[in-house]
Amino acid sequence: MDTAIEKTLAEGLAQLKEVKTQVELDRFYAVYLAKKGAIAGLMGQMRSIPNEEKAAFGKAVNEAKSQLTNEYENKKQALEEEALSAKLQAEQIDLSLPGRGAGVGHQNPFRLIIDEVTDIFLDMGYEVVSGRDVETDLYNFELLNVPADHPARDMQDTFYLKGGKLLRTQTSAAQAHVMLERKGLTPIKMISPGKTYRRDDDDMTHSHQFAQIEGLVVDKNISLGNLKATLELFAKKMFGEKREIRLRSSYFPFTEPSVEVDVSCFACQGKGCSMCKGSGWIEILGAGMVNPKVLKMCGYDPDVWSGFAFGVGVERVAMLRYGIDDIRRFYADDFRFLSPFYAK
Ligand code: PHE
Repeated sequence: MDTAIEKTLAEGLAQLKEVKTQVELDRFYAVYLAKKGAIAGLMGQMRSIPNEEKAAFGKAVNEAKSQLTNEYENKKQALEEEALSAKLQAEQIDLSLPGRGAGVGHQNPFRLIIDEVTDIFLDMGYEVVSGRDVETDLYNFELLNVPADHPARDMQDTFYLKGGKLLRTQTSAAQAHVMLERKGLTPIKMISPGKTYRRDDDDMTHSHQFAQIEGLVVDKNISLGNLKATLELFAKKMFGEKREIRLRSSYFPFTEPSVEVDVSCFACQGKGCSMCKGSGWIEILGAGMVNPKVLKMCGYDPDVWSGFAFGVGVERVAMLRYGIDDIRRFYADDFRFLSPFYAK
């Protein structure tokens, strides 16, 4: 074999042995096998080779080329395998590692209370009616016996919207809707949970947005006794069998008589503690017999029909139930706030 060919082959093979990366391999290819590489260069010398030696020379170059190509292919495959196993190694998954928590969602305690109260009243045969957040003066005030100049309006500072509508200050607005929609049909036995809004300055016990659950019963011979029995049952189911309630005289324009309802303290069993401020009783809701004026305005003859109504403050009940110290927590969107309630 021509010494130039031998030299090229020997050098090529030696260099290929040293190749350790794809970049080096590409460089090798460029130097030896590419169009302008050493092998092509040898072929180019053919012209200057005497005719009788041309065949042998050509054969020798081709042999050198195929040997280098073979070795090049082997090296290429080896490098690819190496790269793949390095990649697999790097991306190895440790199946024995404990998994990360899936972050199961929790319900806001506020929602839990609404569900619980709703269940209690569904069991007593009540229906659930949904009200609306945006109300008219008529439903939020007028039909509830709160005319324009009534002092009770000051108790419920209102968010007014363009066009004279307002954000309801109380779920009691649902009472008027239901009575007018039923057009005198009885019995009415409904609760209506929902959001309410007042222009309060937010502090630990006040929030400009909060929630209430309204209750309304209208039928023949509905008495204060029925109201008391109903709320007693509710208090026992909500706060425990041993609970008692007491009614204190109060005032709401849409009920007559009106009462505020206290439940015996479930933290100290009525002995007096910080939760009930030493009194043994905790206020949980406002209620009363539906004012005859309201019945009349809403299409029910007060000489034939009577009814009772009540309004439960959802956050207040949730705060008592779960020992939450600040009403603003309900609306702060702090995920940590939700977790302790999950198991309950
Ligand atoms: N709407 C009253 C309030 O927000 C509560 C209430 C409802 C009182 C129904 C009596 C009857 O304070």
